[in-house]
Amino acid sequence: MKIIFATQNKGKAKEVKAIFANSPFKIISLYGLGNEIEIEETGSTFQENSFIKAKAIFDIYKEPVIADDSGLEIEQLDGRPGVYSARYAGENCTFDDNNLKVIEELKKFPEPHRAKFISYAVFYDGKNRIETIGELHGQIIKEPRGTNGFGYDPIFIPDGFDSTLAELSLEEKNKISHRAKSFQKLKEALARI
Ligand code: IMP
Repeated sequence: MKIIFATQNKGKAKEVKAIFANSPFKIISLYGLGNEIEIEETGSTFQENSFIKAKAIFDIYKEPVIADDSGLEIEQLDGRPGVYSARYAGENCTFDDNNLKVIEELKKFPEPHRAKFISYAVFYDGKNRIETIGELHGQIIKEPRGTNGFGYDPIFIPDGFDSTLAELSLEEKNKISHRAKSFQKLKEALARI
């Protein structure tokens, strides 16, 4: 089955394509379709936003769609950046801008800075709507390390590791990440419909 992944984020697309490799599902990303669609994430939860993305793309292509809305929740910041993870330092900010803002805000708090990544994944084909969740717990560090991955990966050390997510390979991140967990569950659920 051909499935469109409703994302413009190349880092996410790479991860999810690897998760669905060797499966009956062929994942096509939006930029793979040459499409520059901007979807407004108007929801106030990951769950709402993941479905907004999936529905918006389904309404255009009328093909099965997967989407995820994900982000980082930091305990000492009362769960921020949360649903604003992508644009925490402002519209059109870079991943580095977001990391610096988080580091700055955490300066007044003692370590460890406990945090978790969350991924809400959804499949929608106009009839079936399947939702799954994945989490990854760890802590935020003050000095970014590593160049792999994307987003907050350089400042996040998963529990049980000494490396940041950006120091792990794609294969290693895909064994433990929030997105790997949510999409693995989605893949298993899809095999049953
Ligand atoms: P979304 O594309 O609206 O789901 O926004 C997700 C944002 O959360 C990204 O732009 C990153 O800032 C952050 N994020 C989500 N997953 C990850 C991850 O695996 N590593 C690092 N940052 C992530």
